[in-house]
Formats: sequence, C-alpha cells, structure tokens
Amino acid sequence: MATHSVIESFQQAGQGHVFAFFDQLNPEQQKALLADASEIDLAEVAELNRTLVQKAGGAAGVDLSDLAPAPFEALPKNGGDTSAWAAAKQAGETALRAGRVAAFVVAGGQGTRLGYDGPKGTYPVTPVLKKSLFQVFADKLRAAGVRYGRPLHWFVMTSDINYAATTAFFREHAFFGLAETHVHFFKQGRMPAVGFDGKILLEDKHRIAMSPDGHGGSLRALHRSGALDLMAREGIDMLSYFQVDNPLVRFVDPTFIGWHLLRRSEMSSKMIPKAYPGEKVGHFCAQRGQTVVIEYSDLPKSYQDEVDPASGRLRYIAGSIAIHLLDAAFIRRMATGADALPFHRADKKIPCLDAAGNPVKPEKPNGVKFELFVFDALPFAKNPVVIETDRADDFSPVKNAEGLDSPKTCAEDQVRQFTRWANAHGAAVPVDATGLPPFAFEVSPLFGYDEDSFESAWAARATKPAIVAGTVLS
Ligand code: UD1
Repeated sequence: MATHSVIESFQQAGQGHVFAFFDQLNPEQQKALLADASEIDLAEVAELNRTLVQKAGGAAGVDLSDLAPAPFEALPKNGGDTSAWAAAKQAGETALRAGRVAAFVVAGGQGTRLGYDGPKGTYPVTPVLKKSLFQVFADKLRAAGVRYGRPLHWFVMTSDINYAATTAFFREHAFFGLAETHVHFFKQGRMPAVGFDGKILLEDKHRIAMSPDGHGGSLRALHRSGALDLMAREGIDMLSYFQVDNPLVRFVDPTFIGWHLLRRSEMSSKMIPKAYPGEKVGHFCAQRGQTVVIEYSDLPKSYQDEVDPASGRLRYIAGSIAIHLLDAAFIRRMATGADALPFHRADKKIPCLDAAGNPVKPEKPNGVKFELFVFDALPFAKNPVVIETDRADDFSPVKNAEGLDSPKTCAEDQVRQFTRWANAHGAAVPVDATGLPPFAFEVSPLFGYDEDSFESAWAARATKPAIVAGTVLS
C-alpha cells in the first residue's frame, strides 16, 4: 500500500495518532513505522475494541454456563480399556513408520517469569550435561526417527523477537545432528497493543507497540508460512504440538497418535489429573456437547475446589498440559475458513509514548494485549479425544526461576524418570520416598527417550552399565 493510503486508513479508523511524529522521522524510521502499520488489520482491531476493550467491567468474563467436566480415556491402570490402549499403540506405530506425523513446538513466548534473557528453548535443563531444551527435543526426534525408520520433520514457531537468536542457536549447534532439511522455522504473527481507550500504542515514534499474537497464532502462521503445503508434499497429515518449556514431553507417542486416528479426531489432547485444586493449568471441560479448555485464571475457585462425591476426587480434575495432535486439514480449515479463534484480552503494563511523544513507564496496567490460544480450536474440532497420561512421563515444565515448576524441580523429575526406567529393568539405584536418588545421572534420549526405547537399549547391553553420580547413558 502506498504511504499516504496507509496513513489515511489509520486516520479513517480513528488511529491517525500513530503517525503524529511521522514528519520528524528519518526515511529509515518512516519505513519501519509503515512496516509495523501494514501488519495491522484495522478492522480486526476495531472489532476487538468493541468486543473486548470497551466492554463495561474490564476483562470479559468467561462463559461458564452448562459447564461440566470433560470425559477422558483413563489409563489402563486407572480402569481404562487395556485392549483399546494396545490397539491405539499399534495404529500409532504404523502411522509413525509411514512418516505421517511431524513435531511442532511453539517457542514464541518471552519467558518473562523465568527471568532468562534469551529464547527459552536455549535454557539448559538436563541434570548432568545441562543440555538445552531444544537439544533434548532434537535428541528425542533423532532417536524416534531411527526407531521408526523415518526421520521426522520438526516445525519450530518463534516470534519476531526471538527468531534470529533461535535460528542462530541451531546453527551454532549444527542442528544437533538433525538434517537441516527437516527443521523448519517460522514466525508467528504480531498484534498491536491498545490503551484502555482503544488507541493503538506507540513504543517509540517510529515503532508501534506490537507483541506476539499468542500460541493460537500458530494455526494461521502454519498456513501463511507454507508449512502446511510442505506437510502435504511430504505426506504428513498430523502435527504433534507441544510447548517449549517441558523436556519430559513425549511428543512422539504412538499410543496418543493411535487414539487420535482410531477416533477420527481432528484435535486430540493429553490430560493429567490435577495435583491440587489451585494447580495453574487449564481445565478440560464439556460445554453443550463441545470440548473446551478453561484457564486456571478463568475457572472460579468454587469450581476448582469441587469434589466428585462418587470418586472423592476433584470434579474438574482434567488438567491440560498443552500437548495436542492436530490434523493438517483441520489447521488449514481454522486458518482459512469461517471459523476463527477468539482473541483473549490481557491487561498489561505497556511502556509507550504519551500524546506529546514522551516515554511512559507505567506502574499499573495501562493497556491491553490481544492473544489467541490454541486450545480454543477444540470446540471446532470433530471428535476431539482427551486421553490421560502419567504426569511423571509427560510433564515437568520450567516456568519459574525458583519453587514450583523451576529448573530444580524439572531436573529432579528427569532423574526420577531415568531411575524408574533403569530400576524397572534390574538396576538398583537407591531412592527416597519420592523416587529421587541421592545423586544425579542422565539418560540421553539417544539411548532411550521413553519406556520402550530405554528397554530396547538396555536389553542390547551385554554388560549392564553401573549407575553412579554423574553417569550418562548415551
Ligand atoms: C500454559 C497454558 C495452560 C497449561 C500450561 C501447561 C495458556 C494460556 N495456558 O500456561 O493451559 O495448563 O501451559 O504448562 O497457554 N507461546 C508462543 N507464542 C506466544 C505465547 C506463548 O509460542 O505468543 C508459547 C510459549 O513459548 C510456550 C507456550 O506457548 O511454549 C506456553 O506459553 P506460556 O505463556 O508460558 O503459558 P502458561 O501460562 O505457562
């Protein structure tokens, strides 16, 4: 669009102030501002202002009417149908051998809570070698490629902010031994922040305050970046979606893939029973025949505390660990069709310029960011299935610098998992009541990345390795 028509469209939308300082900018800066501006869908911003920002009472309340807990497939050890789980595993293994599944990590977040300066995927997490999150995923992917006789493709979504640092990290580490042709980076979209009056905020005279559009932005970014076309060319029809903060994740899980296929599900999810009522995870719920996820911040305490009289367990027990399988055709439909994910409003402290062009460092929220959440696609999916998984096998995220979900708890959970695998096959690693040995050791995913692969690798060793402090099985 020509310069004057971009500016004119902003004026017509009541957002002309974005160009208030345009004449003071050098040509380079003018170009930068115009580039930011042309990413913005003004009609979308106007609609969000009407529906989310200008609504009386601030942040929109979530609809809790007709809410019930979502049904899920219980693990065999918790009463699930053993033969159905076995059939699922077989179907998933066949799909993996046929190369129908690719891995997909969303890594566009800013990791503010961890207080780490850099893409979160570069954070060192393993107990002995301090491998980064990205390397753990890469090793798992490599090992699974060997196991199923087909190297898997890996899609990595970054944001505008961490794209360069992320791709540089992979290059520095020679893609961790993966074929470069099988790792695909792309950027998620951005959304402008607005003040409580609906006016788009300026970060600088030549910069609009823009931020990543949330992990739900992945659906449209997969389409826009050509990833879906690449998948079609490669015969990949399912994406295994996971978050960058969780090194335990089994994202090449034949059983999960099999449930998805056998149920003809378009989007499937793993749940864990919540550990305690206030655990900060999303909740799988059912609402008028659909599956929905209600965030911890949106589900009132009275719901979170509710106990099911029959089982004595929490009624809303199904916690979301943000592990999904998505059909490529479903992603394309969500990205291009009439159904669209709803935006969520987050009130934030947003550094910006005031009307006179002076910088403002707010001490309380001064504006709104808009974000899409991937789990909001669930109500649009046909036959969504939720399966139970063991927390110890799939979930120990690094979110906070200290305390819960920290590097320390995550490293300990990795060691517990390695110990369970080893002791199940004849090792005698001593453990405390929580299953934690008095020392750290590490199993490389290249040795074993899940129970089955560990079992094969262990059986193949004529002399079983001694496990002591600092042992690395690789
Ligand atoms: C998230 C889920 C929560 C789930 C929990 C499990 C949301 C809103 N909540 O919480 O339901 O129980 O994880 O650990 O998602 N990301 C992007 N781009 C963005 C924003 C985020 O790629 O614009 C990625 C991050 O890099 C990360 C993931 O999405 O991999 C999750 O983001 P985060 O903001 O850390 O979610 P949580 O609040 O921890």
